[in-house]
Amino acid sequence: MTYFLGIDSSTTGVKALLIDEKGDVAGVAATELPLSTPQPLWSEQDPADWWNGAVNSIKQVLAKTNLAGEDIAAIGLTGQMHGLTLLDQAGEVLRPAMLWNDQRTGPQCDAIRERLGKQRLVALTGNDALTGFTAPKILWVRDHEPDIFAKAKHILLPKDYIRFKLTGDYATDKAGAAGTLLLDVKSRNWSTEVLEALEIPAEWLPPTHEGPEVTGLVSEATAQATGLKAGAPVVGGGGDQAAQAVGVGAVEAGIVALTLGTSGVVFAGAAEPFIEPEGRLHAFCHAVPGRWHMMGVMLSAAGSLRWYRDTLASGTDFDALLAPAADIPPGSEGLLFLPYLTGERTPHPDPLARGAFVGLTVRHTQPHLTRAVLEGVAFGLRDSFELMKSAGLVDIKQVRVSGGGAKSKLWRQILADVLNVELVTVNTTEGAAYGAALLAGVGAGAWPDVNAACEACVKLTGSTVPQAESVAKYEPVYAQYRGLYPSLRVVSHNLSNLA
Ligand code: XUL
Repeated sequence: MTYFLGIDSSTTGVKALLIDEKGDVAGVAATELPLSTPQPLWSEQDPADWWNGAVNSIKQVLAKTNLAGEDIAAIGLTGQMHGLTLLDQAGEVLRPAMLWNDQRTGPQCDAIRERLGKQRLVALTGNDALTGFTAPKILWVRDHEPDIFAKAKHILLPKDYIRFKLTGDYATDKAGAAGTLLLDVKSRNWSTEVLEALEIPAEWLPPTHEGPEVTGLVSEATAQATGLKAGAPVVGGGGDQAAQAVGVGAVEAGIVALTLGTSGVVFAGAAEPFIEPEGRLHAFCHAVPGRWHMMGVMLSAAGSLRWYRDTLASGTDFDALLAPAADIPPGSEGLLFLPYLTGERTPHPDPLARGAFVGLTVRHTQPHLTRAVLEGVAFGLRDSFELMKSAGLVDIKQVRVSGGGAKSKLWRQILADVLNVELVTVNTTEGAAYGAALLAGVGAGAWPDVNAACEACVKLTGSTVPQAESVAKYEPVYAQYRGLYPSLRVVSHNLSNLA
C-alpha cells in the first residue's frame, strides 16, 4: 500500500494526515500553535513554530500508523493564506510572520488603490486591497521597518515556509499566490504591472505551481529530522480554502463548498476567472489546474458561537447549549445578531465593523440569544450567496457543507432555510489536510487528475432540505439583517476609535 501525506499549517495548529491510495484516512496528528497579538490589530506567529509543529506532527503520525518514510509516495501542503514571511538572502526569517487576520494595513490598502486605481487592481488581481492580504503587509514593513525591508530577499506564504524547510526550494501554489494581491488571476502568473506599481521586486517572489505539480523533493537533512524519505516529492498543494474545497469534492462549477469553521466561507468553483467588478468577492485560482473560484469570507462564523458560549454560557457544551434553541421560532422573535466580532470581509470589508445583538426585549431568553447567533451567521453567509448570484453565478447545483459548525443538525437546518438551498454532507471530514493529501496522490499518479481523485474518494453522506414555511419566515428577517451594518457602521467605527 502507498500513502500520501497532507500537511495543513493553520492558524491554530499544524496537522499531518496520511491517506492510502483508496483515499481512506490512515492516521492524523496535530500540534497546537501559539498566536501573538503584540498590539491592537496585529496578529503574528513565529515561522519556527510552524516548522517545529510540522516536524512533531509528521513524526507522530508516522509513529501512530507504524509507517515508514518509504511508504509515503508524495506530500501535499496547505495552510493559512495571505500571511507574510520575509526571509533574507540566506533564508533566515527577518521578523514574525504577519497573518491573514492581521488588520494593521488600512493605510497601505488605500495606497495600493491609489497607485493602481481600484478598477485596474480588481481587473488584474480579481480582488480589492484588503488588510488581510499579503501585498499591503509588504508595504507596511517598507513604511514602518525600513531596516528589515532592506534585508528582505524572499517572500513566502506560511505553508511555503514549511515547503522551504522540507525541500530547500522557494515555491508556492497558484491558489495561495492569488491571495497575495500580486497575481494576475487570469493568466495565473505574477502581475508585472502590480509589482512595478507597488515597487516590489519580482525576484523576491517564488515560482508558482498548480496544485498537483511537484515543486521539490524532501532534503536529506529534513528526512533525518522527520522520518520522511529523502527525495519524496512535495506538490504545490493549495491555500486552505482551495484545498478544503478539493477535500470535499467542490471542484466542478456549480458545486459550492460552505465551510463553517472559525471563519465561514462560501466557495464556488468556476471554469473561468469570475471577477465581481467591485472586488467584494475574492476571485482566486483553484488548486485544480486551470480552474478558478470565487469566494466570500465571513471572519467569525463558528467563531461567533464559540465567543458566545465562552462569554455568556461558559462551561456549557455546544450540544447542551444548542438543544433548547431548536424550540425557538425562526427569527428568534425579533432578535438579530450581527456576527462581525473580528471585523468583516464579505460583504463589508471593514476591520472596524463590530458585532451586535439588536432587538432585545425582556421576553428573550438564553435560547433566543443562541438561536439568534446561529441565524446571524447564516444571514451573513447568505450575503455571500446573494453577491455571487448578482455577479452572475446563478447555477448552484449543490452546496457541500463542512467544518465544526456543520456538525450541528439545527445549524444545518437554519442554513438550508435561510439560504433556501439543499445542503449535503460528505464522508471526508478532515478538511484542507485531506485535500492536500489528495493533491499529493494526483501528483504521484494515483489518480489521473483532481476530479478523478474526488470522484473516487468523496461520497455524499446526508442531506438537509429547506422547509418552505421557515424559508418564508426568514425572508423579512433577512431584509432587516441587511439593514443592520449600514445603520451601525458609524457607531461601530466611533466605538472602535474610542476603545
Ligand atoms: C482565506 C482566509 C482564511 C485563512 C485562514 O482567504 O483568509 O482561509 O487562510 O484560514
